[in-house]
Amino acid sequence: MKGFEPQIVAFCCLNCAYSAADLAGSMRRQYAPNVRIIEIPCTGAIDQRVLLQTFEEGADGVFVAGCLEGDCRYQVGNIRAKKRVKALQKILDETGLGGERLEMFNLSAAMGNRFAEIADEMTRRIRCLGPSPLRRK
Ligand code: FES
Repeated sequence: MKGFEPQIVAFCCLNCAYSAADLAGSMRRQYAPNVRIIEIPCTGAIDQRVLLQTFEEGADGVFVAGCLEGDCRYQVGNIRAKKRVKALQKILDETGLGGERLEMFNLSAAMGNRFAEIADEMTRRIRCLGPSPLRRK
């Protein structure tokens, strides 16, 4: 869609993805400015209501970025988040919003470049999908 600039919200674990985003900035690694980062203590803290509410409040895309599997400070927070994201993707598909608008990524604090790639990747994806049906209403 011409002129459409996606609004993407990234819930980033303080112990990894948030630092990776910070590192991308320190490295002056350019990435899409469409991503608004929200710092969370662990991806295990995020529940489906919060993710749904983020869409309701106008996000076109949402991603959750947590520690690498096996590295979660709370053992299984990122595994729980992965299951929640997967279940919600299904619901988003069923409701017509589109499960592709939601994604989960795992990365370490040292993966600044990867964070930038993810931000670009999600921006491209959501740009192709167009504005969220919730935002259009
Ligand atoms: Fe990072 Fe749990 S502490 S995902």
